Amino acid sequence: MNATESGPAADIPTLPRRVLRWFWPRSLAARTSLVLIVGLGIIEAIGLGVHALDRIDFDRRMIQQESQNHVGMIYRSIVETQPQDREAELRALHPPPTFHIALTPGPDPDMVEQTADDPMAHMRMGQPPFGQPPFGRPPQSLPPLPPHLRPRQILFNAPRGAPQRAVAFLLPDETRWLTITYTLRPANPFRSPTFPTAFALMTVAGGVLIVWGVRRLVAPVGTLAAAAEALGRDVNAPPMSEDGPLEIARAAQAFNTMASRIRRFLTDRTLMLTAIGHDLRTPITRLKLRAEFVEDDELRGKFLADLDELEAMVSATLAFGRDTSRREPMGRLDLTALLQTILDEAAETHPDQADAIGFAEPPPTVTIEARPVALKRALNNLIQNAILYGGGARITLEAPQAENEGERLVTVLIEDDGPGLPPEDLNRMFEPFVRAEVSRNRETGGTGLGLAIARNIIWGLGGDIRLGNRTPHGLRATVTLVC
Ligand SMILES: Nc1ncnc2c1ncn2[C@@H]1O[C@H](COP(=O)(O)OP(=O)(O)OP(=O)(O)O)[C@@H](O)[C@H]1O
Ligand SMILES: [Mg+2]
Repeated sequence: MNATESGPAADIPTLPRRVLRWFWPRSLAARTSLVLIVGLGIIEAIGLGVHALDRIDFDRRMIQQESQNHVGMIYRSIVETQPQDREAELRALHPPPTFHIALTPGPDPDMVEQTADDPMAHMRMGQPPFGQPPFGRPPQSLPPLPPHLRPRQILFNAPRGAPQRAVAFLLPDETRWLTITYTLRPANPFRSPTFPTAFALMTVAGGVLIVWGVRRLVAPVGTLAAAAEALGRDVNAPPMSEDGPLEIARAAQAFNTMASRIRRFLTDRTLMLTAIGHDLRTPITRLKLRAEFVEDDELRGKFLADLDELEAMVSATLAFGRDTSRREPMGRLDLTALLQTILDEAAETHPDQADAIGFAEPPPTVTIEARPVALKRALNNLIQNAILYGGGARITLEAPQAENEGERLVTVLIEDDGPGLPPEDLNRMFEPFVRAEVSRNRETGGTGLGLAIARNIIWGLGGDIRLGNRTPHGLRATVTLVC
């Protein structure tokens, strides 16, 4: 399973998986933030729901209370007016638009006596809201309605679940009824803008805090990845900082210990290799001297040829040891000019193949940050291989491209028309002292260290190197370097 398939998006049929993958970001920080923000959203939605339910209940009671106050005020205004002036008083009142008031000879037929659990039960008793101030007048505490002004009878109509209400009062001093009908406005839990605004601000602040916190917490993982990459390029890369949260500090410590073990292991191995190479030189020289005394010309020739090969291998081993341990400083260099120099030198050394050595097309001018001597050695190894095993070297230098988190990479292709390599050998050839069967037989004199050295150098520069076969035949070495 690759990285894009990890997480809940895996093991789900194609289309939903694709949709999920679209919503499921790849970075750990984004995923963690997403999970926390969704969690926060759910908790807030539940909070909002609980608040809304609570407010609706409260708002309903408020609306009912408010309407009853209006009813009380209307009744009071009418009952305190002389019977003959009541019609005029009624017209002069300006109740809320949902209210309708009338003086009628009798109540509406579907009106009933109030039951004890009716929300308007208190009206029957002549209790407040009859003492509330009338519309438009400044609030003042009015005395309770005197008993002789209280209604003789009150009838209601309040259908369950409907917002319509009707109340009729039989006036104490005449035969007419004061009928008031009105509609309760719907309860709105978010009438005040303060709460939704505060809630939105809280959500945004929570989201920002989550993103910021998660990024800070997850940052060390990125640092660890960068350190691992730096170690891959250069074993002498500076150690990771061991600060920060306990787990991260422990991981950094473990990483630094691992890096120092790798360094020690590499140094030991290189030292051993160099020491063996060095110590072999003396006996080889002695053997060469002794071989000169072999009388049989043919046998002597074979002895000396073998010893020459052995000596070349020892020299190459020593060079390999030196190469990996030497720390040449990095500097800005003209890659185009460097390649041209290598090609010119190669054409001089192999005049027969000079026509097949050169740039495939006019190269762009590219400058890079590198170790000049080491890079020349690496590229030279590849070009020499192409000439030796492929009969020529054609170089393509591609213009730099931005890739990999803004890093600019430049690609150099080294191609030949030789036999190429069996696919299973393409990676193996980078191992020290490994040579393909064909070249072993062809007496090309190599030791099998060229590609190993080249890869060490290129990796040390932060680049990479790959081998691939060309069609119809031939080998292509692809070198990527950081600009
Ligand atoms: N362009 C090529 N075409 C075919 N085979 C190749 C090519 N380049 C490398 N090889 C194979 O890969 C092997 C390893 O190459 P490498 O450069 O590491 O060692 P070498 O050339 O044998 O010795 P030296 O250490 O002198 O370079 C070669 O022996 C050869 O068999
Ligand atoms: Mg070689």
